[in-house]
Amino acid sequence: MAEFIDPAIVPKVTLPSGEEVPCMGMGTFGSDRVSAEEVSAAVAGAIRSGYRMFDCAACYGNEHQIGEVFEAAIKEGVVERKDLFIMTKVWNDMHRKVEEACTKSIQDLKCDYVDLYFIHWPFPNYHAPFCDVDSRNPDSRPFSVEEFMDTYRQCEELVEKGKIRYIGISNMTIPKLEAVLPLMKIKPAACELELHPCFQQQEQYDYLVAHNIQPVGYMPLGSPRRPERDICPEDVADMQTPEMQEIAKAHGVHPALIALKWAHQRGEISIPFSVHNYVSNLKCVTEDPLTDEEMAKIGTLEKGNRLVKGQVFLWEGAKDWHDLWDEEGYIVK
Ligand SMILES: NC(=O)c1ccc[n+]([C@@H]2O[C@H](COP(=O)([O-])OP(=O)(O)OC[C@H]3O[C@@H](n4cnc5c(N)ncnc54)[C@H](OP(=O)(O)O)[C@@H]3O)[C@@H](O)[C@H]2O)c1
Repeated sequence: MAEFIDPAIVPKVTLPSGEEVPCMGMGTFGSDRVSAEEVSAAVAGAIRSGYRMFDCAACYGNEHQIGEVFEAAIKEGVVERKDLFIMTKVWNDMHRKVEEACTKSIQDLKCDYVDLYFIHWPFPNYHAPFCDVDSRNPDSRPFSVEEFMDTYRQCEELVEKGKIRYIGISNMTIPKLEAVLPLMKIKPAACELELHPCFQQQEQYDYLVAHNIQPVGYMPLGSPRRPERDICPEDVADMQTPEMQEIAKAHGVHPALIALKWAHQRGEISIPFSVHNYVSNLKCVTEDPLTDEEMAKIGTLEKGNRLVKGQVFLWEGAKDWHDLWDEEGYIVK
């Protein structure tokens, strides 16, 4: 029997509504390498180890299998539905049919409602699962405030209908946030963005906190087994930097646990994926914190190491992947 970490001792973050949720959830993207069955088996183990938050997505192709696991855990009395915080996302090809997408996720996840529903990407540009990095969809277009807000309005209606409790946004930039936040009736509770020691996105992080939006860090370990399409020669392996190795050695743990402690102490929710190490990942935020000096040292590791560059979402006429991230401070069209 795997070790059980009492959910009551897992540190919490407070959402803008005042609700407290765990500072760590489990990612469920198999990265085109881990099968739906293996991922859902890990989710089953994770619930029994004390995880209560799960980061799902329609495009991960495993919600049906994960739903079986949620249903079984509830039937067996391991948890009640209200104890779980289930997050999922509308995929890019469903931006005009958000309710249909959400209803399908609810059915697949067998969860009655979604706690936090993210707009996975801020544009409808679609790529097929398992596609390679050079594939382009001729229908792709640059970000449009009107199109985004149409998708967002549909999410607001889902809140009003009780199908989702909170709205989330993901893969945003400050210029895009500036354009859309004033137009929203219901503010987003959280924003999912890539965050790991060598890619800290401090400016967007601070912007989110200042606007009372909870940052949720994806790829908190620098995703060592990410899909082939997301691997570039210039990428840095966060956990192999001498600083991370040295701090890990001082604590007698794997650098992954240092990255997760750092994320937690910084204030974000992190959602590491794991089929082998999920127990130690959850446990690490309940014990042996990093010192202020260690936090400061990790703070110096920023290397602009964006791993999800998003090439497959580029539109006709776009220069390169930098165009997706509005690096000059305006929305690139
Ligand atoms: N919103 C978005 O656009 C978006 C984009 C990407 C990802 N995400 C979400 O973020 C989640 C996490 O991202 P990710 O899965 O790409 O990357 P990650 O969590 O940074 O890395 C996962 C990898 O790290 C390994 N690992 C986990 N814990 C470890 C430990 N304690 N020691 C050593 N190795 C460890 C895992 O291997 P083992 O399985 O062997 O432990 C797995 O190969 C995804 O699953 C998904 O839910 C969201």
